[in-house]
Amino acid sequence: MKTVGCALALQVLITAFACPAHSQESEGQSLLKKRCGRCHAVSADSKSPIAAAPNLWEKLRSYPSERLDVEFAEGMGSRHPAMPQIQFTAEEIAAVQNYLAGVQR
Ligand code: HEC
Repeated sequence: MKTVGCALALQVLITAFACPAHSQESEGQSLLKKRCGRCHAVSADSKSPIAAAPNLWEKLRSYPSERLDVEFAEGMGSRHPAMPQIQFTAEEIAAVQNYLAGVQR
């Protein structure tokens, strides 16, 4: 029984985190949600928890992707005092870029 539970838990983990080839679009969304979502809306037609914070789905899609690469790597927060400095790895940036490309929302 114990082994079965463990294998199941592992399966869930693998599906959720270790399968970038299959789930990159939604991975990008959940990354944004996790790191920016307490202030920003991160999907179309949703409202930011903080009124002053723009909807990132709309805002970030207006940025050229080279700019997103740089800003995500350096940490967006450096430009906005209200925001914490949050940096992304190259893989995470790729996931976010995929999400913003609109493959899936
Ligand atoms: C603690 C709340 C908070 C968090 C967390 C946060 N932001 Fe923000 N962000 C804000 C607020 C408030 C503004 C609008 C005021 C400003 O421009 O400083 C803003 C503005 C922005 C803008 C608009 C900049 C512009 O030039 O108009 C972008 C892009 C942005 N945030 C990206 C992000 C990203 C990406 C994350 C996650 C990695 C994030 N923010 C996390 C509060 C937050």
